[in-house]
Formats: sequence, structure tokens, C-alpha cells
Amino acid sequence: MNVLLTGGAGYIGSHVLRALTGAGHTCTVYDSLVKGHAQAVHDADLVVADVADAAALANALREYRIDTVVHFAAFIEAGESVQQPEKYFRNNTAAALTLLETMRGCGVGRLVFSSTAAVYGTPDRVPIEETDRLAPINPYGSSKLCVEYMLRAYAEAYGMGFVSLRYFNVAGAHPNADIGEDHHPETHLVPLVLAAAMGKRTGVKIFGDDYDGPDGTCIRDYIHVCDLADAHVLAAHGVRPGEVRVFNLGNGEGFSVREVIETCREVTGRDIPAEIAPRRAGDPPRLVASSRKAMDELGWRPRFPKLRTIITDAWNWHREHPEGYGS
Ligand code: UFG
Repeated sequence: MNVLLTGGAGYIGSHVLRALTGAGHTCTVYDSLVKGHAQAVHDADLVVADVADAAALANALREYRIDTVVHFAAFIEAGESVQQPEKYFRNNTAAALTLLETMRGCGVGRLVFSSTAAVYGTPDRVPIEETDRLAPINPYGSSKLCVEYMLRAYAEAYGMGFVSLRYFNVAGAHPNADIGEDHHPETHLVPLVLAAAMGKRTGVKIFGDDYDGPDGTCIRDYIHVCDLADAHVLAAHGVRPGEVRVFNLGNGEGFSVREVIETCREVTGRDIPAEIAPRRAGDPPRLVASSRKAMDELGWRPRFPKLRTIITDAWNWHREHPEGYGS
């Protein structure tokens, strides 16, 4: 396949780039570099432009003879989305419409979409299945769910084919430790705890210890970024004209914030001070995926399901790149 990865210079995009290239596909990265890092794409072709720029997008689709798009480019901070919803609906939803229209105009009919567990909001039960209630509790989740609705309409009206992957908590880094997570600002638990282990932060805050559950802290389902990347390769092969196929991606096991911090202490051998802070607005108490559908229908098998492996790979990346990409 000739694949265009929007947001391919980002954390997840760069790992998927490596997986797709490894599987023999020809890849072009399309990234504004507002959040992405040119160093993360190594020697892949890189078009520096915004998804909202229809002319640049059409040029890239034609010039690189693209047949499949994998769409990562998006803002991802749920908290910020509550403060500045317009930013999320413009960048995540409106730009996706531009992308779909441009693809249609250029005769490109296949897309894999980065969706999120945030489309479920606070679930009624765990593990969550794809057919469970969709009820986002922040504009970030809504901005992604709107895109899923657009995909359905485009599949029906124009016969385009889509796979939507709903990610749970993505963490870790490539085992080579040459690509990894580098967000500014960083808001995710694992990199923040590891920054504290490195002495770059004085400690870590636990957002709430009065949730229902064994130790009172929130439960999440952590998935290794390389396992997530493998699922994209399978998804790209699994696109069917006129259909939207939706898959959860997680490990089916929940870990509390305290358990994550404890595992980081074990992996790093460092003391990591943690203090209890108030709950963070918009945090569901427990998110755990059922990924049975991805296993049954795509043949996906996680290679690195253990939290310890996920954290070890993240630690190796951060240790070797204390300033991230430095860009
Ligand atoms: N947490 C802390 N302290 C921190 C950071 C996080 O206690 O300093 C807690 C959070 O409250 C949450 C858990 O650690 O309970 C995981 O938080 P992350 O920010 O790492 O991840 P989220 O579960 O909030 O976010 C994930 C994705 C987001 C997406 C969100 C939707 O990473 O992109 O799911 O639910 F928006």
C-alpha cells in the first residue's frame, strides 16, 4: 500500500510508521510539526502541512499516489478541550471533514482513524465492548465521536471504507529506544512518573484516592505503543469498501494509578515521591477494554501485554533521551 500518515511525526504515528514500513508498505508522513517531531520520522518522506490545508493535502495524495490514509493528527488533551472546545472541534472534527472531502476528490477511499476510549465517557460496565453506550464527557471525546459519525455517513453515501481504532491508555516506547513519547506539555501518567524518577520533577500527584476500587485511585488499561502499531497494520489490511469497522485496543486488564507508580519504582529502582491531589475533572473512575473483537476479526495479538514491559520500554527511551527529541 501507499500510505499517508497524518500526524505521523507524533508519538503514536511514528511507531505506526515504523510498523507499516517494516511490513513493506510505502509511507509518507504529513504533519504540521506543531506537536510532532521531524526526528521521529527518520528518513521517511515528510510533508510539513496542516490537514486543514486542502490544497497541500490534495497535492500529497496525488504526488505520492496514496491509496490508504491513517489519520492521527489531532489534539489529545481532554482537560484542555473543556477550556477551549473550539480548538478541538476545529482541529479534530472540521479538519477531518476536509480530509474526507479531499480524499473523495482525489479518489482515495480507505482510511484508518485514531479514535479513543473517551467516546465511551464513564462506562456502565467494564470491560467495555464496541457496542456499549457512546457518551463522551469532554469535547475531546465528542470531537472524535463526531468523526466516527462522519465516517459512517461517508461509507454509506460514497462507499469509502474505514477502520476506527478506539485506543485505551497508550504507553511505552519502541524497544530500540530511538522513538518514544515527547509531549509538550506532558499530561500522561507514565511519562510524568518517569520524569519524577529521573529527578526532572520533584514528584507525582495522584489525582484522587477516593474512587471506588481496591486502592481508591483510577483504573486504566495500558497498551504498549508497538502493540497498538501492529493493530494499525492489520487494520489497514482490514478496510472494506462501504463499511466502518470499529475496534477497541487495550489489554483487558486494569491497573490503578498507585500500581503504575509502584511498577515505575520497581523498574527504575528510584524513589518516586507521590502525593494525593484532588480528582481531575472529567476522569472516569475505571476504563478497561475488551479487545476480543480485534483479536477475533483482525487476528491482533499483543506482544508486550505486561505493564512492567511497557514501563521498562518507556524508561529506556526517557533515560536515553532525557530531553526527548530536543525539538
Ligand atoms: N493521573 C494522575 N496524576 C498525573 C497524571 C494522571 O493521577 O499527574 C491519573 C489520571 O487521573 C488518570 C490516570 O492517571 O486516572 C491516567 O491519566 P492519563 O492522563 O495518563 O490518561 P487518561 O486516562 O486521562 O487519558 C487517556 C488518553 C487521552 C484521552 C483520555 C480519554 O491518554 O488522550 O484517555 O479518557 F483523552
